[in-house]
Amino acid sequence: MISPKKYARSAKMIPNGFKTANEFFNYLYNDKDMIWMGQNTNHLHDENAIMDAMLQSVKKRDYCKYPPSDGFPELKELVLEDLGLKDGFEMMITAGGTESIYLCANDILEPENNTITCDPGYLIIDNFASRFGDHVNSVPIYNSECGYKLTPELVRENMDENTKLVVLIDPLNPLGSSYTKEEMKDFADLAEDNDIYLLNDVTYRDFARDPQLAAKYAPEHTLTIYSFSKIYGMAGMRIGGVAAMPELISSLKSIVINDLGTNSVSQSGAIAAIKTKSQWIDRIRNTTRGNQKIIKKAVDQVEGAFIPVYPSDANMMAIDLYDAGLKPMDVAEYLLGKKIFTREGNYTSKLFGHRYLRVSYSVPTKDVEYFADSFLEAVDALKPKKV
Ligand SMILES: Cc1ncc(COP(=O)(O)O)c(C=O)c1O
Repeated sequence: MISPKKYARSAKMIPNGFKTANEFFNYLYNDKDMIWMGQNTNHLHDENAIMDAMLQSVKKRDYCKYPPSDGFPELKELVLEDLGLKDGFEMMITAGGTESIYLCANDILEPENNTITCDPGYLIIDNFASRFGDHVNSVPIYNSECGYKLTPELVRENMDENTKLVVLIDPLNPLGSSYTKEEMKDFADLAEDNDIYLLNDVTYRDFARDPQLAAKYAPEHTLTIYSFSKIYGMAGMRIGGVAAMPELISSLKSIVINDLGTNSVSQSGAIAAIKTKSQWIDRIRNTTRGNQKIIKKAVDQVEGAFIPVYPSDANMMAIDLYDAGLKPMDVAEYLLGKKIFTREGNYTSKLFGHRYLRVSYSVPTKDVEYFADSFLEAVDALKPKKV
């Protein structure tokens, strides 16, 4: 008999009334009125060149053919240019950044190796790393002393001779904390001196005020994960990739999963997305930054509640509800009743999930205003009654 594997898992809670997480998501996905503030996706694109390029690709019936296995050369070049990593770097296109993360964990880790991640963080990475290495050391970072991020000092304290991979999500899901140039240089030294690889996941990079890249300072020791799911608004198209030095990319190719390539319609959209980025990025950034302020104003009205990292450098933030006497799961369920999808902290933290609700705000401002009102209503309805 075969039974589920015991890898590190995210503590997913299934709301009442649903048998499986899939059933719950299917319900959410098909509700056209649901406001999508639970997955850090971007709902601010209009009908634009990205959509046109995908429609054209379908009309040309590109989808009858398999695309080149590691991505259209034009797209690979565009991504490297977008990252400013043109010289000497290579790129592989995959079905989302997720597939690239999996390949990197598979490629870098030997059975005796361990990986350093942080809690809160993006837990599927811990899961992947635990499949290939010995264990994952998820360092608690939910405190202001470390700036709510995994610092070079914390990595030095927690590493040992078997540490081979350090995961730097920048900006960090769920908190929106980000790194300075000095911190990145420090990580680069640490990686080079100890022959450790940095998995630099830059999925939320374009929302940040001053984005950094580990690859600039430790090119031979960095794998940069790229995604089209957030700023480009293409989560459902499942497209992303990994950039690294040629030796690393060749090694990744030897363990490839999708040897018949990544969705050609998605790649057409992705090419158009990068080419037109300068036309829409300011509007999207300004809207998300304005939306943050609306949420902050509401949170400030709740005694005991606070936003650990403000402003956030991503399109999401955590709202800490613990001292307000509120359970994130209850607030998420209340908001779901108002057709607002948010995420309780358990999805991104094993240690601190009971403290916060994660909210993403790359949605129209009127929806964020509705969220702010509904959040305050939820607080009134759910807060412990004084006796
Ligand atoms: C840090 C991080 N990396 C990767 C992903 C997934 O990216 P993709 O949709 O490109 O697979 C997410 C999605 O939320 C994320 O938060």
